[in-house]
Amino acid sequence: MYYQSIELYEEPRQQILPKLNVPEGEPEMSSFESAFLCGVLRSVRPRKILEVGVAGGGTTAIIMQCMELLGEPYALHSVDLAERFYRDDSKASGYLAEEAKLHLPHANQKTYLGRLAIEQMEDIGGDIDVLVLDTVHCLPGEVLDFLTLLPYLRDGAVVVLHDLVNNFRSQNRKRTRYSDAATATKYLFDSVVAETKYFQEDPTAQQRGGFPNIGAFRVSQDTRENIATVVSALSHTWLMLPSEEQLRIYRAAIIKMLDEEAAWLFDSVVKMNRAILTTPMVPSKAEMGYWFLRKMVGVPAFDSRAHKDEAFIVYGAGTDGMKYMEQLLEEGVDSFQICDKGKSGQELFHRTILRPQDLACVAEKDIVIASSKYAKEIYAELSAQGVEKARLYLAY
Ligand SMILES: C[S@@+](CC[C@H](N)C(=O)[O-])C[C@H]1O[C@@H](n2cnc3c(N)ncnc32)[C@H](O)[C@@H]1O
Repeated sequence: MYYQSIELYEEPRQQILPKLNVPEGEPEMSSFESAFLCGVLRSVRPRKILEVGVAGGGTTAIIMQCMELLGEPYALHSVDLAERFYRDDSKASGYLAEEAKLHLPHANQKTYLGRLAIEQMEDIGGDIDVLVLDTVHCLPGEVLDFLTLLPYLRDGAVVVLHDLVNNFRSQNRKRTRYSDAATATKYLFDSVVAETKYFQEDPTAQQRGGFPNIGAFRVSQDTRENIATVVSALSHTWLMLPSEEQLRIYRAAIIKMLDEEAAWLFDSVVKMNRAILTTPMVPSKAEMGYWFLRKMVGVPAFDSRAHKDEAFIVYGAGTDGMKYMEQLLEEGVDSFQICDKGKSGQELFHRTILRPQDLACVAEKDIVIASSKYAKEIYAELSAQGVEKARLYLAY
């Protein structure tokens, strides 16, 4: 067998979460994933833990509760680039960890905000036993952080990687959204040379055939000697480009441990991705209509989450419209009607498709144009019908 299993440890999450004011979506790990992480902690019994990617701090609280139950002294260092919790900026990142400390007499945890993990390492120091990486998930993301942090990990340290398959949560095969390209931790997991990789069926994820969204690996001398395999993982296309200052900081830390060949590999993958990500995209003829409406007319993109409970119309039931509506339903947004000139009267997603002239009866509702090919024509037609511009949006 290639992979090893971790004995799950569920109690820490069960004990701490009911004591906290946890908002929906926190922590971002499922019960299985928290139990896997705590299982790693119980097996390693770490003295020093580094967590990168904190968000509200729900997982930070679970780690502290776990260490409390294990009853051994520890230090937990938690780093997040964002000073404010990215889903509610009235709260600081990691605020739940502070709440949890009120219930944990032996807590020894510190949160570091606003800078990359590598920029905090002078304070945090080396000899890390467990590293938890859970940040942006799209390349270069966690791969760059791992490369910079490797020198601070002990031989035998365990690295836990979350969101290995976040990209499979989306049906958007156009790969236009952030989560569609969430592959960074999986590339790291697959490319790293490690003594042991921990990976096992998640019985709660039957829709994915039990494929887990979390895994871990144990660092060894081989990991360091073969680090070029991880640098090579960066040659897949990146979704975002860190700032030039961040790239400089990452490079300065990484290049030190690379031999000549791996250093060349690193510089070339950065160059290649920088070139792609700084070149303006040339829109296709179909996308031009969208581009024109967005940039020249100022029609905004529709924020489906903000309008989750309001009734609105999706105009366009062609290829773009179908994909868009599938995506809405996947996000739990179900409050839309559909309009399409060529398909009026047909049934789609359990609703009857309206004719454009029917839109007069739904005068107050917002209309989301979901066809790149006919966007300009739809806009012109709706304007001619007297639909106010303020009610019009673009799907993407
Ligand atoms: C997926 S959330 C973390 C969820 C958390 N681990 C949990 O289980 O609840 C990702 C967090 O990573 C942070 N982040 C993104 N890039 C980062 C980076 N390079 N270094 C540190 N934090 C980063 C974001 O600000 C965000 O709060």
